[in-house]
Amino acid sequence: MTAEYTVQGNIALITLNNPPVNGLGLATRLAITDGLAQAHADANVKAIIITGAGKAFSGGADITEFGSPKAYQEPNLLSVILAVEAATKPVIAAVHTVCMGGGLELALGCNYRIAAPGCNVALPEVKLGLIPGAGGTQRLPRALGVEPALNMIVSGEPVKSELLAMVPGQQLFTRMATSAETLLAEAVAYAAEVADMRPLPQVRQLPSRHPQGDAYFQFARNMVKGMAKNFPAPVKCVDMVETSTKRKFDDGMALERETFINLMWTPECRALRHLFTAERAASKIPDVAADTAQRAINAVAIIGAGTMGGGIAMNFLNAGVPVKMLEMKQEALDRGLATIRKNYEAQVSKGKLKQDKYEQRMALLSTTLSYDDLSDADLVIEAVFEDIGVKEAVFKELDRVMKPGAILASNTSTLDVNKIASFTQRPQDVVGLHFFSPANVMKLLEVVRGEKTAKDVLATVMSLAKKIKKTAVVSGVCDGFIGNRMIEQYGRQGGFLLDEGCTPAQVDKAMEKFGMAMGPFRMSDLAGNDIGWAIRKRRYTEKPDMKYSKTADLLCEKGRFGQKTGAGWYDYVPGKRDAIPNAEVVKMIEDHRAALGITPRKISDEEIVQRLVFSLVNEAAHILEEGIANKASDIDVVYIFGYGFPVYRGGPMNYANEVGLFNVVQAMQRFAQNPLDDAKFWQPAPLLAKLASEGKIFG
Ligand code: NAI
Repeated sequence: MTAEYTVQGNIALITLNNPPVNGLGLATRLAITDGLAQAHADANVKAIIITGAGKAFSGGADITEFGSPKAYQEPNLLSVILAVEAATKPVIAAVHTVCMGGGLELALGCNYRIAAPGCNVALPEVKLGLIPGAGGTQRLPRALGVEPALNMIVSGEPVKSELLAMVPGQQLFTRMATSAETLLAEAVAYAAEVADMRPLPQVRQLPSRHPQGDAYFQFARNMVKGMAKNFPAPVKCVDMVETSTKRKFDDGMALERETFINLMWTPECRALRHLFTAERAASKIPDVAADTAQRAINAVAIIGAGTMGGGIAMNFLNAGVPVKMLEMKQEALDRGLATIRKNYEAQVSKGKLKQDKYEQRMALLSTTLSYDDLSDADLVIEAVFEDIGVKEAVFKELDRVMKPGAILASNTSTLDVNKIASFTQRPQDVVGLHFFSPANVMKLLEVVRGEKTAKDVLATVMSLAKKIKKTAVVSGVCDGFIGNRMIEQYGRQGGFLLDEGCTPAQVDKAMEKFGMAMGPFRMSDLAGNDIGWAIRKRRYTEKPDMKYSKTADLLCEKGRFGQKTGAGWYDYVPGKRDAIPNAEVVKMIEDHRAALGITPRKISDEEIVQRLVFSLVNEAAHILEEGIANKASDIDVVYIFGYGFPVYRGGPMNYANEVGLFNVVQAMQRFAQNPLDDAKFWQPAPLLAKLASEGKIFG
């Protein structure tokens, strides 16, 4: 049982108890209906309170039941709410801390609702590509009023109970408690007060009205359509709230159910639900127990105050962790400090950060030129030049000065973390922390696990990532880790497409239409074309058989490194990020094509998208097979949070699953026939071939 039934005097209490947030899983639902039945059977009971133990009234549906038949097994949530409504004794919801989704829908089915102040109230279903499916769209407008209800349903954002209680005429909270501590006692008193009152009030009996009806909903629909773009659910939220004003309650409920079920099977909803679980699963490492003891991180040191060092420092300052930055020269420290200040000041001037908070954060930051000043740091993150010799010198110094048990991390994007660990006498304390640029903005953090990295180091950095609001994914050691190793194949395909007949703008447009935040050439201009150039130069000697288009090298030979030089695949006006196509670059590509004797062909957007996305998928399948990534969903998290892959497609692996792995393999076999492409690369990775032949998907 995941709810407890107790009786206080002549009040029955059903206390949901399904940690962490009293999710309404099958056992909890059964316990509620059971509690209602007991309360009715007991002549002594005059009223019933439903409340939640621990840190929530209820966070709603039990996410572990998502997609499983258990979610629909009777009593489903709708039936539970009907049972509450059918009660012949008054039912009072006593809500506190968290009252969301199905939890709020359950409360709306009760006759009375008393709320503690500070309770986060929301219908967040839209964030999973859904609408509330247990009466939320029909009852909330009746209880709270059409406009505030629509606002809550369409945004999915939580609102504090005390604010909701201020909405004129609202019946959402029929009473406010003075505090969370006194909620239960006040609820019991409230129950005694209403025990004999009849008829029992019901939200379904209240009217749902808007004085400007049609005009208001038309306006709301236009606004939401513009903002929701690729997601169908938000507009359906508007439709459903409008339905509450125009149709009978039971008709509205039937329509809500039908819409909910239809949305559940849209690719967008599947993608959002996939990401929801993928993000949570990413923090779990198969061989590291969830209760592994962690090292305390109370002070952080950062080596190198350049592009990355400064951004990394800001993450910790924002989380209230003191940071000491080390550089070789005072000028470099001054430059780094000035950049951090500039970033914070921009936030202050936009009103996103209060002046006193900015000052508090800066007060946590100190600088030094001496390694001997770092001995009190619990974690040091190295962000110096990407050169193994420089890293060696730094790590030898760190090994000398850092206290025993300190974690030694590198932000390297390509170098071998095992080798870096070997520069120290404590390889078990060394880990890769690969932040993405700009490090204070990008959510992704690749945690690179060396051969000898200790489990408690991993457990510590994974929970530290949460503290600094990053989404962390564990990667094994390989060139480029998960994200950049895949992007190299994507970039190679981009190059072949130019050789075969595309312009950079055509490729970018196709990918942006697919939903990527930026096409490959705009992205390369942003990151710096010189970075890829350096990698390719290395590849030409390391892997002479690997085929590349030469166009990107020709571009770099012209000094067109991207936004930082004002010119790359596109031109840029100083201070602006708009990519302006450049005729000379197009001519450079055409001349190169002619020199190779290639007759350009018209390439469809579909081919562009498939070649680029499936190149990611094939490389990812190798990454999975080699155990570099723990699971396919980790790869999706990397691409959504680090590379601007469209959320509504759920990441490259989820997209491949949606397309069907059989179809993905078929396409790869077609691409392998193209003499201008790389036939060897397009051999489906064994894992992919196996899954496709067995009719399975990436799990
Ligand atoms: P950067 O050139 O902007 O900054 C490096 C800083 O390190 C400079 O301020 C330099 O003075 C300092 N430095 C160099 N040697 C030092 C030493 N021995 N002791 C103390 N300070 C030293 O470079 P950036 O872009 O910040 O890159 C740093 C690291 O982060 C590299 O390993 C890079 O691969 C990695 N990285 C870079 C990303 C990017 O987009 N820029 C993304 C992810 C990782």
